[in-house]
Amino acid sequence: MGFSKNFVWGVATSTYQIEGTASDSGKGMNIWDIYTKEPGNVFEGHTGEIACDHYHRFREDIAVMKEMGIKAYRFSIDWSRVLPEGKGRINEAGVKFYNNLIDALIEAGIEPYITLYHWELPYELYKRGGWMNPEMVRWFGDYAMLVAKRFSDRVKYFFTLNEPQCFVGLGFLTGEHAPGIKAPMRDTFEMAHNALKAHGYAVQMLRQYGKQPLVIGYAPTCSMCYPETEKPEDIEAARKMLFSMQDDDRNWTWNVAWWSDPVLLGHYPEEGIKLYEKFLPKITDEDMKLISEPIDIYGQNIYNGKCIRMGTDGQPEIVERYKGFPKTALNWPVTPECLYWGPKFLYERYKKPIYITENGLSCHDKVSLDGKVHDSDRIDFLARYLKELKRAAGEIELRGYFHWSLMDNFEWARGYSERFGLLFVDYQTQERIWKDSAYWYRNVILTNGENL
Ligand code: NOJ
Repeated sequence: MGFSKNFVWGVATSTYQIEGTASDSGKGMNIWDIYTKEPGNVFEGHTGEIACDHYHRFREDIAVMKEMGIKAYRFSIDWSRVLPEGKGRINEAGVKFYNNLIDALIEAGIEPYITLYHWELPYELYKRGGWMNPEMVRWFGDYAMLVAKRFSDRVKYFFTLNEPQCFVGLGFLTGEHAPGIKAPMRDTFEMAHNALKAHGYAVQMLRQYGKQPLVIGYAPTCSMCYPETEKPEDIEAARKMLFSMQDDDRNWTWNVAWWSDPVLLGHYPEEGIKLYEKFLPKITDEDMKLISEPIDIYGQNIYNGKCIRMGTDGQPEIVERYKGFPKTALNWPVTPECLYWGPKFLYERYKKPIYITENGLSCHDKVSLDGKVHDSDRIDFLARYLKELKRAAGEIELRGYFHWSLMDNFEWARGYSERFGLLFVDYQTQERIWKDSAYWYRNVILTNGENL
């Protein structure tokens, strides 16, 4: 058994990473527009001002996706492009941009999947406290309502938040991402709680104002856990570790259960409540009801995982990686097993159809003398990972896979120094060049993974 015949083969991007911020577009500022302008925040002072200029080149990009056989495109909306102040006034030019994008996708036979929030907090809302302000719940819901009203006649699939672990953890604990703050622990739990409530309210708004029955999900992340062997005790150890909490405080967001149990199971994990008790805001039954507003699909961004075995003391332990363990250009470990065990454990716990909303890697890609981009590392990585995913597809309800990313783009604090794309982007000319992996992925799609 392999991938179902309706399996969704897609690619993913996000607004700030590809669009460019064109000053004539009526867009308001978000925290990344501000953060990137400050020297020292981003590698070599790179900004998303031009990025891949997708704002002007989306038609060409969609034509390429079509040629590649891409079935679905997961992209995000810049909240401040449609609501420059984050609320109130609508920027019709921004709405038009996304309308044109959606129309062009549909015309090309590519299913649009919208992510509402891929870290683009409108600066005006940030000034009012951003995620610390309980009003964010309503502001995000109102934004979701606008999106539903304007786009859901043609768009059926939505994800609310992308990687809350990162926008709270990297944005407000380590300060490596916009807005670059090292907030007190208590504040970060409050932000997380507000973000989860905002998710719930957005789900309600999408349902209420959706112009057709919508399919709504969520796209968190985390490193997965996989067992060292298939002995039941190692499997149990990996499962237990995956859903456990970090006891390193300043790294607390890096877990699955704190972010997904409330949404899918209606409560925070017991272990976390105990561990973080002193930092927690007031959590009411009403909050939990809102947070657990039913969703239809579960998305998870998966890049790598930790190998786990059952220790002799009956506790799960991390198996140390051997010297010279394979890694990507970004030094992330290559652990294909996470694409079998990750979705499997998540499906068992949350019982929702699963999408891998992101997976991919950064390589040291360059244009060779023959004018081509030979990214054999990416092909090798994807072949290994997708084989594991194929195994999972035979056992659980797995709906789709979105490769990160369609094209090289602005990798946050690392600017343009990392290349995650199937398409190579020459940032001097904006030329897109098919990497070898793009041809390879086209073939995977064409054969529905039979060739894996
Ligand atoms: C996670 C994020 O959602 C995306 O924005 C980022 O570029 C990729 N993973 C790679 O780091």
